Amino acid sequence: MMTELQRIVDVVHLTSGYGETRILDDVSMFAREHEITIILGSSGCGKTTLMKHLIRLYHPWSGSIRLFGQEITAMDEPEFNALLLKVGVLFQNGALLNSITVAENIAIPLEQHTKLPLDLIRRLVHTKLRLVELSHAIDKLPSELSGGMRKRASLARAIALDPPLLFCDEPSSGLDPITSESMDRLLLRMRDDLGISIVIVSHELASIHRIADSIVFLADGKCLFCGPFHEAKSAGIEQIDRFFKVGSFG
Ligand SMILES: Nc1ncnc2c1ncn2[C@@H]1O[C@H](COP(=O)(O)OP(=O)(O)O)[C@@H](O)[C@H]1O
Ligand SMILES: [Mg+2]
Repeated sequence: MMTELQRIVDVVHLTSGYGETRILDDVSMFAREHEITIILGSSGCGKTTLMKHLIRLYHPWSGSIRLFGQEITAMDEPEFNALLLKVGVLFQNGALLNSITVAENIAIPLEQHTKLPLDLIRRLVHTKLRLVELSHAIDKLPSELSGGMRKRASLARAIALDPPLLFCDEPSSGLDPITSESMDRLLLRMRDDLGISIVIVSHELASIHRIADSIVFLADGKCLFCGPFHEAKSAGIEQIDRFFKVGSFG
């Protein structure tokens, strides 16, 4: 018998916005473990807002958000911070510190959240950089890297603590198609070799075809579809069909 994959992210009836403006309207979505789930939708539809809710940068007006089966909206701060150690986050702008080297950037989470000796931290940093194919850049400053290399360094930092769950906001935005493809290859490697569950915000059709197991399709603040990618294409939802035909949300 096939076992159901567990929902590692489970959002139910989430409604939220800024000030009086409603952005997410009764959104229910989930992501399953060991899968790549892609949140897609037109620019400004609330993808980043949704992702920020998942790490509690915002608090919803109403609704439930579970990570690893635990309700985060009601958790106290210490409990949530402990849970957050199991979540890697790659923000849209990478956010590496520019005054220190790539190695030092990746060491930060290890120094802050573990008591490991420095030589072991150094070795773990090496391992992560090898994983993202950036060993040669270990002593470089972020400003000396290309856009694609900076993204990979940010990815290495996001997985420094071996999180079972990784959130990436537009990991290939601003990258050329070839660099974007190599980013996708790395994300597949994280899923397949490390078993990480990954939730990605994206609107790139090519990338979605390469890496999506499941998709969450947002439009006008609502979730129009959440489920396996192959089912999305045959769900008979006009906006989704249009997106997969022409690559735009129009
Ligand atoms: N901090 C904020 N304060 C007020 N409005 C915001 C804020 N962040 C985003 N918005 C607005 O909320 C909407 C959704 O934004 P966002 O979640 O960033 O969309 P997406 O990531 O899908 O492009 C947009 O109209 C945006 O202008
Ligand atoms: Mg965004």
